[in-house]
Amino acid sequence: MPDPVTSSGKPLLRALAGETLPRPPFWLMRQAGRYLPEYRALRAKAGSFLELCYTPALAAEVTLQPIRRFGMDGAILFSDILVVPHALGQELDYVEGEGPRLDPVCDRGALGRLSAAGVDTILAPVYETVARVRSALPPETALIGFAGAPWTVATYMVEGGGSKDFAAAKRFAYGDPDGFQGLVDLLVETTVLYLRRQIDAGAEAVKLFDSWAGVLPEAEFRRWVIAPTARIVAALKRSHPAVPVIGFPRGAGHLYEPYLADTGVDALGVDTALPLSVAKSLQRRRPVEGNLDPVALLVGGEALQRSALEILEALADGPFVFNLGHGVLQGTPPEHVAELAALIRGWPGHTG
Ligand code: CP3
Repeated sequence: MPDPVTSSGKPLLRALAGETLPRPPFWLMRQAGRYLPEYRALRAKAGSFLELCYTPALAAEVTLQPIRRFGMDGAILFSDILVVPHALGQELDYVEGEGPRLDPVCDRGALGRLSAAGVDTILAPVYETVARVRSALPPETALIGFAGAPWTVATYMVEGGGSKDFAAAKRFAYGDPDGFQGLVDLLVETTVLYLRRQIDAGAEAVKLFDSWAGVLPEAEFRRWVIAPTARIVAALKRSHPAVPVIGFPRGAGHLYEPYLADTGVDALGVDTALPLSVAKSLQRRRPVEGNLDPVALLVGGEALQRSALEILEALADGPFVFNLGHGVLQGTPPEHVAELAALIRGWPGHTG
């Protein structure tokens, strides 16, 4: 018997278009990655993480690994949000056990040394990956492209890596807003180009990751999160009106509401800390995607079952995509992902 969910159109795209499906489609942020032994094997073969991102045969294979194992409804392109600054000419390295390291851009002088001239050439392998994955995917699986949103990418560019307090990024943004606007403008322009090329190569939906949206006060959130996101969405809607854009302003809390009202995103990624009642009220206006705690997936068992069911009970009766509230953690046992997939596939199951 055909699965009723997959009988007409790709479930993920139907949910993002506002349909309520009998069981929600699912995929997981960071579904490809170090928790999978087959990922670690290919990563070792590629040498460096950037080599992996820029080698279409390997990046396509990594994108497909979780789909083969778990049959998610969405495959997310394997790449990283920091390939954009790299393509703009910023030195980038991924240090084992530490994360990304970049040569910091903390003033107008350093900003002036970046250039969009090489972006299309440097990122061409990413588009090739998209095309390869698209032709290899099962017919019911949708391909998701992505980029970092300007504020989040700018934090890495200015801090030179991850940060706890974002002091350098805020110092630039608050101390020289016109200069920082120059960086954000460059990122808006590059991100639009980058996402358009991904869509032309075969991406069927795109997600904007604003992982550090939640560290800004309201006025700055409007200026550096909402405004640039709205410009990117408007540009994509002009060129590719049918492709859904998922916005993920992680940690935005009460500012999810103006983000939804003012950016034009088609669907909203909700993080782990957002109460389900708030997610439910946002869902009355747009499809939502989220928000299982990645630690519940890591722990598994009762904690996983209970939190996943809570989310399904709260959100599966409206347009919904099941996902985590942030990325899969490194030590997560792959069997827990299989258990979660089975639980979602069994929804709504038999009660009583
Ligand atoms: O499976 C997927 O979701 C697709 C691939 C993907 C990666 N990064 C692969 C990756 C996606 C969508 C991202 C997004 C990303 N990258 C974000 C936004 C989402 C989030 O997690 O908040 C951010 C902030 C980054 C920047 C980044 N890349 C960091 C901070 C790190 C180091 C920390 C870590 O988790 O490893 C990376 C490296 C990275 N990106 C890895 C992977 C699989 C690990 C690299 C390795 O194999 O050593």
